[in-house]
Amino acid sequence: MYPYLKNKNILLSVSSGIAIYKAIDLLSRLRKIGANPKVIMTKNAQSWISDQVFSAVGNCEVYYEIFDVKGGWIPHTELSRWADLLIIAPATANIIAKISHGIADDLVSSTALAYSKKAKLIVPTMNVRMYENPTNLSNLKMLNEQGWHIIEPEEGELADGEVGKGRYPDNIKILVHSEYLLTKKDFLNKKVLITAGPTVEKIDAVRFISNRSSGKMGYELAKEFSYRGAEVTLISGPTNLATPSIVKKIYRVENTQEMREKVLKEFQKNDIIIMSSAVSDFRIKNYSNQKLKKDSIINLELEKNPDILKELGEKKNEDQILIGFAAETENLKENAKKKLKEKNLDFIILNDVSRNDIGFDVEDNEISIISRKEELRIDKNNKRIIAGHICDYIFDRFF
Ligand code: CTP
Repeated sequence: MYPYLKNKNILLSVSSGIAIYKAIDLLSRLRKIGANPKVIMTKNAQSWISDQVFSAVGNCEVYYEIFDVKGGWIPHTELSRWADLLIIAPATANIIAKISHGIADDLVSSTALAYSKKAKLIVPTMNVRMYENPTNLSNLKMLNEQGWHIIEPEEGELADGEVGKGRYPDNIKILVHSEYLLTKKDFLNKKVLITAGPTVEKIDAVRFISNRSSGKMGYELAKEFSYRGAEVTLISGPTNLATPSIVKKIYRVENTQEMREKVLKEFQKNDIIIMSSAVSDFRIKNYSNQKLKKDSIINLELEKNPDILKELGEKKNEDQILIGFAAETENLKENAKKKLKEKNLDFIILNDVSRNDIGFDVEDNEISIISRKEELRIDKNNKRIIAGHICDYIFDRFF
């Protein structure tokens, strides 16, 4: 999900090369995300793929003529004004050389020159010897100094069989970077510690105690804060989720004691701390590293795990914002308010985990934010959107 690309005007400039077919997938994804794409192509790009393919896949207009002035509508100035983001993918050494030196002899290069100060992203894709040629590298450096964001090509087998740096990157990388460029940076210089997922307590070599938490809510919070400029540390229990590339610092832990250790180590460095993890409250008293026989585990002996959040509530300084989650199935508000007070939190996020359509292990959530002063209900939505609302709440109330 890329909420900040939705309804944004995205101008995809395509130059030539075999990787051009991957630009079609990028366009298709932009359309599905809900962005408004338009495409411009170089003459050489058109000799690889017809402009009609781009037009059909993107359900959008495709331009390639610089002098196609209609009723005073001048393509390069109008398109450069229209776009919120300019992506050049794939970008050849030739287009890189032209743009870095201000040459404007076709629609792609003139639009780039007219585009100036808004978000702009370039994806160099070419043979390794061309990529590593000092002229090309120095042109890329110049582009970077001129405000272009560059997604470096990947290493691997190239179209002509040579191996090296020059491959077109994964389109997800391009989308993540685009989303980053179009997201407001209201949490710049803020440090945020987020825990996510369950903790797992081993019973023996093959069995364990845990819960149904998938970690999605915590991961979406970590992404949202990262997109908005915060320096995020994510401490994750075991999950099946892919590591989000936008989150730069991730630690993986297994059980509650490991999570506690890591959280306590990071806690003082952070301005905002969110315990979204579903922490296992108990661990096994006599863990066995052999597989136990079934008769010997009928009466499991448990011991209590530390309450990490409560400990943080005792340690926190006045400037830190401490947030907990309350996973409840009954007496929802009453239980959440009790936790808010007992754990000394700035606010608590109440989750009804008895429902199948929200909470544990699904894409959506519906929450109430409860502080000492107020309660705010946030309607059911995708967890990324819910994470956005939580960030907005923090920004509005605390900064
Ligand atoms: N929490 C924690 N350490 C624990 C248990 C919970 O840090 N050992 C944190 C959770 O990450 C969450 C908040 O405390 O932010 C509330 O967790 P929850 O499971 O709803 O409640 P508990 O405190 O465990 O109480 P109960 O299980 O009785 O509802």
